[in-house]
Formats: sequence, C-alpha cells, structure tokens
Amino acid sequence: MKAYDIILKKRNGGALTDEEIRFFVNGVVDGSIPDYQATAFLMAVYFRGMTDEETVCLTDAMMRSGDVVDLSRFGKLTVDKHSTGGVGDKTSLIVAPIVGSLGLKLAKMSGRGLGHTGGTVDKLESIPGYRTDLPSDAFLKQVEKTNVAVIGQTGNMVPADKILYSLRDVTATVDSIPLITSSIMSKKLAAGAHTIVLDVKTGSGAFMKTPADARVLAEKMVLIGKACGRKMAALITDMDTPLGTHIGNALEVQEAVAVLKGRKNDLFEVSLALASNIASLALELPIEEAKERCLRAVESGAAFEKMKDWIGSQGGDVRFLDDTSLFPPAKYEIELRAENDGYISHMDAEKLGLLCVELGAGRRRKEDAIDFSAGLILNAKTGDKVQKGDLLATAYTSIEGVEDVIRAAYGRAVTFSDTAPEQKPLIYDVIS
Ligand code: URA
Repeated sequence: MKAYDIILKKRNGGALTDEEIRFFVNGVVDGSIPDYQATAFLMAVYFRGMTDEETVCLTDAMMRSGDVVDLSRFGKLTVDKHSTGGVGDKTSLIVAPIVGSLGLKLAKMSGRGLGHTGGTVDKLESIPGYRTDLPSDAFLKQVEKTNVAVIGQTGNMVPADKILYSLRDVTATVDSIPLITSSIMSKKLAAGAHTIVLDVKTGSGAFMKTPADARVLAEKMVLIGKACGRKMAALITDMDTPLGTHIGNALEVQEAVAVLKGRKNDLFEVSLALASNIASLALELPIEEAKERCLRAVESGAAFEKMKDWIGSQGGDVRFLDDTSLFPPAKYEIELRAENDGYISHMDAEKLGLLCVELGAGRRRKEDAIDFSAGLILNAKTGDKVQKGDLLATAYTSIEGVEDVIRAAYGRAVTFSDTAPEQKPLIYDVIS
C-alpha cells in the first residue's frame, strides 16, 4: 500500500477502506508518511469529505494511535463531557460535582486555554495546591474514592491528533467536519467513558458560528460516538454572549462556587442541562427525573460538598471554596460604565475573550504564563437595559497602563441600541 495512492483516491472523491485509513494514520504516527503527504491527504479530505464509515474508521484509528484509558473497573457508570470551547464556560466545574454526587464516575482530562477561549485545567490550577498532573494510578484511585477526577491531558494519548492538528492549523484545514469530528471524538473515546455528553457552542465566541453549522458537527459526533459503542448526546448552546458573568480563571472558580451554592443564571441553566443529560443516559432515567435529581443535588448542598471532596482530594485548598474572598485580587480594577441610556444589543464573546488575554488572563501562545486573578466581571449582558453611568463591567489586571486599551476593546466588543434586541435561545437543541 502506498500513501500516494490513498491521497490520489481521496483527491478523486473515492471512499477509503478501513485498511487504507489505518495505514495512513499509522504511517503519520510512526513517521513513515512525511508531513507533505499528510497535509495533501488533509486537503483532499477537506475538499472531498468523508462518508460516515470513513469518519468512524479515522476516529477509531486515531484513538488507537496511543494510550487508551481503561475505566472498565467502574462498569457503565463512567461519564464525560466536552465543550467545543467558549468564553466564561466553566460548566465542567459545576457539572462534575453534580454528577459525582449522584454516584457517577467522571474521570476527565481537560485542556488549557488558548486564544480567546479558557481551559478547565487553568481554572483548576488557580485553586492553590490543586494538582492537574496525577499519574494514572492516582487518577483512577481518585475516581474510585471521590467519583470525580480532573487532570490535564497526559502521556501519549492520541498522538495522531497532535500531529494532524498541528498540520491542519497551518494549512487551512481545521474547519472540516470529518477532521474536527475525528479529532474531538478520538480524544474523548481514548479517555474511556461510557457516556459522553457534548456541549457544542454556537455564536460569536464559538468555533461554529451558526446554529446550523453547530448542528451538523453535533449530529456527526453523536453518530460516531454511538458507532464506537458509547452512549451519546450533544447540546447545542449559545456562545454569542459569554456564559455567566465571570471570565478569567480564579474569577470563574468563584462563579462556579456561587452557582453550586444556589445562584441561578444562564450558567446554571446550561450546567443543569448538561448534568441532566449525562445522568439521564448513564442512570437510564427519564430526562425530567434526571433533572430533578441534579437540581436536588445543588439545592441540598450535596454538589458543593462533592466539589470540596474532589478538589481537596486532588490537593486543592478547600478554604478557597468556602470563602472565595481568599483568592488574591489583581492589582488594578478598571470600571467600565455606560456612556448613554439604552440596551446592550450584542456582546461579541470572542472579542471579550481576547480582552481578557490583554488583561493577563489568557495565552496568545502555548508557552505564555497566565495571571489567575485577571479577568472581567460583567454586570450587564445582552438584552439588559442600562442608564448612562451604570457599571457595565469591571476588568481586573495586574498589568500597569492598559486602561485605555481595555476601554477601547470593551467599546469594540459591546454594541448598544435604543430598543431591546431579539432574545436568542440559550439551548438550541439536544441531539441524542
Ligand atoms: N477542537 C479539537 O480538539 N479538534 C478540532 O479539530 C477542532 C477543535
């Protein structure tokens, strides 16, 4: 078999066999297929697409290209969630303890933030002492003991994606449905959970800008996950406006704690929907009953206790959860106030995410350090009526002299109007 023939077949619109796809993925990983052939293959897939059978095979071959986590000792109680990424999206910090408090086992590997989106690992590391680098036996013991463990991506998992993603990133081949699907799903499948619920974001801060595009991706990922033997659901949720009010690592932990202690907002709604869908699939409950149980877990305080149990067992100082005022503040606060009366008609989530990078809360490049205390608290969001002088948001930073840049960036991200904007759904659909 030759890489050339596989590229040619795909370039001409042919459907590749299982054997051809596995030959290609293995060759990319062992180095026998050079980058220039791998990128030609990616471009051919970009233009010609893949059948569902090809995408299942590509996903499976990528998943098996490295270590696969074995969670079989926990039976069918293992669950996972994945968000396609957004701004202010701290749902994992809320969903994990809710489902953990119901007896489900969440063994999660999360990523770091890059560009305008945040990452769960960075948020957790803002809690002093929290360890995101547990070795695999300690990771599994933690799941056994507390039901929840969240660590960074470790070792040699899905090396095929590391190679292919870095090539896609520089060859304009990221936005291809079979390539995105296989990239995301190979990592989720390798992490081993029996039930996987996806949060596919749509809007200005999301990878998929329209609900229609998000639906295509969500349907494909659900189909591939099911074909690989997992219980699957995907929610299509809004990321046109940041989720919740807090953006930035320690600030997001504080908001997650507030939600687990009873704050009701959009963040609570999306977290509850994700947790309910996980519980419904894994415990085989009707969705309404699953929702009721998740709601009770929050209202009884069981979910917050589970958060402390999880964070404390992973080395985190739980005093910061009991009293979030212990988180060290940033050096400077910048108040952003309304210049006129009116409505907030749009908030560009991506621009607000990038504003937080300017504040020190995120990374431009992988190797950049971040300031856990930096970020933004929104006092007003899309649809809110504001009066001249009202506090719209407070920016937190320890970088001197960025006030003018931040004011200008906020001005570009937020649009005002005289009339109330049309309200968009928070949850567009659930696909299962
Ligand atoms: N996230 C991933 O992990 N892979 C993609 O291809 C796109 C987004």
